[in-house]
Amino acid sequence: MGIHKIAVIPGDGTGPEVIREGLKVLEAAAKINKFKYETKIFDLGGERYLKTREVLPETVFAEIKKFDVIYLGAIGHPDVKPGILERGILLKLRFDLDQYINLRPVKLYPGVWTPLKDKGPEEIDFVVVRENTEGFYVGEGEFKNKGTKDEIALQVSRNTRKGVERCIRYAFEFTRKRNKKKKLTLCAKTNVLNYASDLWWRVFQEVTKEYSDITTDYAHVDATCMWMVKNPDWFDVIVTDNMFGDIITDLGAIIQGGLGIAAGGNINPKGISMFEPIGGSAPKYTGKNVINPLAAICAIGMLLEHMGEEKSAQMIEQAVIEVTSKKLKSLAAGKMGYSTSEVGDLVVSSLNKPNSTA
Ligand code: IPM
Ligand code: MN
Repeated sequence: MGIHKIAVIPGDGTGPEVIREGLKVLEAAAKINKFKYETKIFDLGGERYLKTREVLPETVFAEIKKFDVIYLGAIGHPDVKPGILERGILLKLRFDLDQYINLRPVKLYPGVWTPLKDKGPEEIDFVVVRENTEGFYVGEGEFKNKGTKDEIALQVSRNTRKGVERCIRYAFEFTRKRNKKKKLTLCAKTNVLNYASDLWWRVFQEVTKEYSDITTDYAHVDATCMWMVKNPDWFDVIVTDNMFGDIITDLGAIIQGGLGIAAGGNINPKGISMFEPIGGSAPKYTGKNVINPLAAICAIGMLLEHMGEEKSAQMIEQAVIEVTSKKLKSLAAGKMGYSTSEVGDLVVSSLNKPNSTA
């Protein structure tokens, strides 16, 4: 098994507070299941940038690359112009480490409030496989006649056959392994995007032929948003491009109870992957010990599953369910009925004593 080497980037705002709870749960799981790990904290983020103007220095990046996996808190600082930290840290890690899958489970746990009327855990349980290294996120484009009344801004969505194909193949394999409805839905916009969505459509049809055990479906991105609200139970796995994936997974997060619980993985199946709560740095709650750490704890669960510690991953999920169904009043920051660190403690105690109602 060896020692799992985890690079930890707590980041900005409430990032450090929630990461602390995730690490608490990691420590408890390691004790129970007797696996070994080591962590090193990297102080990347807004504070470092404001002090030194460094975003992700090459020497630091080189050190991070020696780890097996990354655990990330949140990136984004109110005193730093939007985009600098996101592009310089989060997107740089995703791109340079070729984390070509962004995996976002949308699962409503028992006891968690959803804004969808008459829907419960039975209906809300699907996974979005978002392409994570291409599309509009490549930052390709140009201004023409900048600043004039004839200005034109061009933004290119780059989709390569290789990039699209590896993402679609991952989604098929994932659907098979997940073994639920065995249904994979392509989400694109073939009625308008005559290049980008056309390529996704063609590659999807080709790869489909190799997976006779998987039912396939197609939905335009706008319709996907509608079905996610009206009939979320139609979905098992959704595969989509970077931008559409970004948008529909915020919708996904809110129907599973909000950013307090939503976690995601940036995956390079053969390289260094990175797991994170998908919410932002929440500056207004920083340092107050009121933010919900469950998303960061669920991200640790995903990280452990990825590292082959399936048992720990399952135990963490069960402990989170125990806490959402029996303890928390709400998942919203400041309304949980417990502080950030108390929620971490609750998860640890139900890890140690499964099914206790104490
Ligand atoms: C996400 C975030 C990022 C994205 C931002 C912070 C750049 O919204 O992980 O979904 O757009 O991918
Ligand atoms: Mn997003």
